[in-house]
Order: sequence, then C-alpha cells, then structure tokens
Amino acid sequence: MEKNAKRRSDKIGARKVVRIRPGTKSVVLGVTGSIAAYKSAELASLLVKQGHEVFVVMTQDATEFISSLTLQTLSKNPVTTSFFDEKENWRPGHIELADRANLLLIAPATAHIIAELAHGLAFHPLAAIALATRAPILLAPAMNGKMWQHPATTENVEKLKSRGVEFIGPEEGMLACGYEGLGRLWKVNDIAFRAEFLLARQDNLIA
Ligand SMILES: Cc1cc2nc3c(=O)[nH]c(=O)nc-3n(C[C@H](O)[C@H](O)[C@H](O)COP(=O)(O)O)c2cc1C
Repeated sequence: MEKNAKRRSDKIGARKVVRIRPGTKSVVLGVTGSIAAYKSAELASLLVKQGHEVFVVMTQDATEFISSLTLQTLSKNPVTTSFFDEKENWRPGHIELADRANLLLIAPATAHIIAELAHGLAFHPLAAIALATRAPILLAPAMNGKMWQHPATTENVEKLKSRGVEFIGPEEGMLACGYEGLGRLWKVNDIAFRAEFLLARQDNLIA
C-alpha cells in the first residue's frame, strides 16, 4: 500500500513536462545579455523535453553570461551568435531560421533587444530573425526595475504589443542588481508552458 503511494508520488514528481499536444515544432530561442541568461539553459532543456526542435540564437553580450556550448548541448542544435556562423548553406542561416520558426521566444529579453525590436533594427541575427519571421513572438523581459519602468521601455513594449508581440513577465522580487522590484525573469516553467500554448494555438487546438 505504502509502496503504491510512493510510486504514485514518483509519477506525479516526474510529470513536470508540459505537453498540450503532440508534434514537433521549431522554436527559435533568443538569449540576450542579462544575468538571467543562465536560466535559458533550463528553458532550452524543457522545450526539447516538450518535443520541439530548439534553435538557440544568442546576442554577443549573451555569450558573456552563458556559453554557447551549454546551449548547443541542451538544445541539440548548433547555436547562432553571428551572421557569419553559417557557412555550409547558400541560404543565410538567419532567414532559414526565421522561416522555420513556429515561435520566436526571447528569454531573457534585455531592455536593449526590446528597443531594437521596437525600432526594427537588424544589427545581429536575433534582431534580423525577429524582423524576418512571421511566427508569433514571445518576450520574457528581465532587467533592473527602473529600466523596466522607464518611459522609453514602456513605449517600446507598448509599440511591440500593438504589433502582436506577446510578453510574459517580468515578475517582482529580488533583482541581481541589488534592488527589489519588478524586473525578474518570469518562472521558466511558466514560460515553457506559455510557449506550448502559443504553439498549440497555431494548430487551432486551443481557442
Ligand atoms: C552583470 C550584468 C548584468 C546585466 N543584466 C541585465 C539585465 O538583466 N537586463 C538588461 O536589460 N540588461 C542587463 N545588462 C546590460 C546589458 O548586458 C546591455 O544592455 C547589453 O548591451 C545588452 O545587449 P543585448 O541585448 O544585445 O544582449 C547587464 C549587464 C551586466 C554587466
């Protein structure tokens, strides 16, 4: 009896992976230069466990916070950090990723990438993919609370929302910069769940 109860609780413990619908989708996971970048490793791993192909695209600054090797290993795909990474294909790698993506998820998203996206800049592959893709875009911001609440960031966020870009977070709590407030990356499990929801919505399985 006790054994059965333990088995049941083990099963519940193992049921962490959220899987709303079957089928492989391509998720381009953008990682930018935030202290929360280390959390993208768990996110990449969760998305793979959810059954998706994950292609990580990092900004140059993100590589200061987490290694591309970690993300390459967890995503099981090459990581893009520069326009000039891709040398084997006639087609520019960033356009291929933009076309292939069923979802562009940027987590963590810095104030800088939010500003770039709002202004349609394309100085590096992640920003270029955001312009070229027609997939839904989900941003999970992480930054100092004053940066998040600055009118420039607020305007950029509103501009992106009006174009259909979705946001998850940030949440309130202790920030790495020493302040407490709004600016923490949303919980990674919830970001993965939201990604799953947006992917499922494309199949009209969820209204
Ligand atoms: C230790 C450290 C932590 C940082 N954390 C953040 C952060 O959480 N959010 C943010 O918007 N910028 C943060 N920055 C500043 C960004 O790294 C900087 O704006 C950078 O230009 C972002 O570039 P990217 O968006 O191309 O990755 C941090 C910088 C340092 C040195």
